[in-house]
Amino acid sequence: MRQDDDRLEGRRVLIVGGAGFIGSGLVRAFATANEVVVLDNLHPQVHPDRAAARQRIEAAGARLVTADIRDEAALARLFGRFRPQIVFHLAAETGTGQSHAALGRHVDVNVVGTARLIEAVRRAETQPDRVILASSRAVYGQGAMVDRAGRPALALPRRRAMLERGCFDVFGPDGRKLYGRPTSARDRLPDPVSIYGSTKLMQEHLVTQGLWGSGIDTVILRLHNVYGPGQSLANPYTGVLARFARLAVQERPIEIFEDGRIVRDFVHVDDVVRAFGRAAACRQAPLLPIDIGTGRAVTLSALARTLLRLSGSRRPCRVSGAFQPGDVRHAVADPAPALRFLGWSPEIEFEAGLADVLRWVRDTLSISSRPASKSPRSAEGGAPCPTRRSSPLATATLPPFAAAGSS
Ligand SMILES: NC(=O)c1ccc[n+]([C@@H]2O[C@H](COP(=O)([O-])OP(=O)(O)OC[C@H]3O[C@@H](n4cnc5c(N)ncnc54)[C@H](O)[C@@H]3O)[C@@H](O)[C@H]2O)c1
Repeated sequence: MRQDDDRLEGRRVLIVGGAGFIGSGLVRAFATANEVVVLDNLHPQVHPDRAAARQRIEAAGARLVTADIRDEAALARLFGRFRPQIVFHLAAETGTGQSHAALGRHVDVNVVGTARLIEAVRRAETQPDRVILASSRAVYGQGAMVDRAGRPALALPRRRAMLERGCFDVFGPDGRKLYGRPTSARDRLPDPVSIYGSTKLMQEHLVTQGLWGSGIDTVILRLHNVYGPGQSLANPYTGVLARFARLAVQERPIEIFEDGRIVRDFVHVDDVVRAFGRAAACRQAPLLPIDIGTGRAVTLSALARTLLRLSGSRRPCRVSGAFQPGDVRHAVADPAPALRFLGWSPEIEFEAGLADVLRWVRDTLSISSRPASKSPRSAEGGAPCPTRRSSPLATATLPPFAAAGSS
């Protein structure tokens, strides 16, 4: 335990969006030693079973206020009665691809909702000490890139016509192919390429500019791909790892977008919850956003292969060449600032984390569904997974803008 962890006992903690995947972990972590209230509208896309969500929060020892983040009156009542000292803001529409189809809704919830929350914080008679925002690496867009010689370079947006031709690489203004590098808020300015990323950047601006000079500390965590038990298996729009894990457990084929070489940095939810704890507890709130990831690059093909091996599934995965708007090619964190400014580093080893998810998916599905089909398992387990697309633009078996890609 670090010296400043004692600041996290006996506090009044508000977790906005606390019924969700990451929020539930925060509730469990904080409710044992603090008074915790969750504000969440129990979004039907995330919570098909609202009663179960409520029960989970209450079982953890927290109280649920079922309300929309845009509801000014509900926020005013909550701040007036509960007088939170720490506010975690996690409520959001979170689908990268879906944000392009449901643009207005994403802007309304993520941007207007955050503005309402900040107004409520400012109007509160007893103001909180600290507001912590769950932002996303999506604010970077393509993120840090270099050319073949290792020189930093700006990335051009990927054009639809090129993606349709099966060219998924990223190029600089002079036509040279670029390569992804670990990205940090210390040396990379935001340049989002999705509506979702743009709304997350706007959330950051609203929190820092809206509370500037108020005496309230703000901390922004830019999360990479969070995975772990508890991620909604019902929401087809988020969580590529949860989706792949479900398909592996059900022995159904896994479809991988683009050419399989999309790169992501998967960080376990327990590690992320610890990062939020550090963000709340550290004496000096970092001035710049902190990137929360492991620094480990994993292609989606490698992810699928590993899940198939660990689950024993013999169904092949299929690299389809399909793509979704707003996806980036390479997203890996530079974890050094998190260690320096928060004293945080990831602890959960990747394969152990994946095994944990597969166990949880198996347990969950044995209650709510059965595997679609059974195929013989090999002694070694797993099935080959090509790294090149098998057929360009093969029809996706998912709803439009679903998460077979990389959210
Ligand atoms: N999971 C990830 O990989 C990841 C990565 C980067 C950033 N983030 C950010 O972390 C936060 C939490 O993500 P998560 O994965 O737990 O998502 P989640 O969908 O599981 O949780 C979000 C919660 O917000 C609630 N919510 C949605 N709209 C609301 C509204 N209008 N009013 C009140 N509540 C509302 C939902 O009911 C849900 O409980 C989000 O802000 C997301 O942008 C997540």
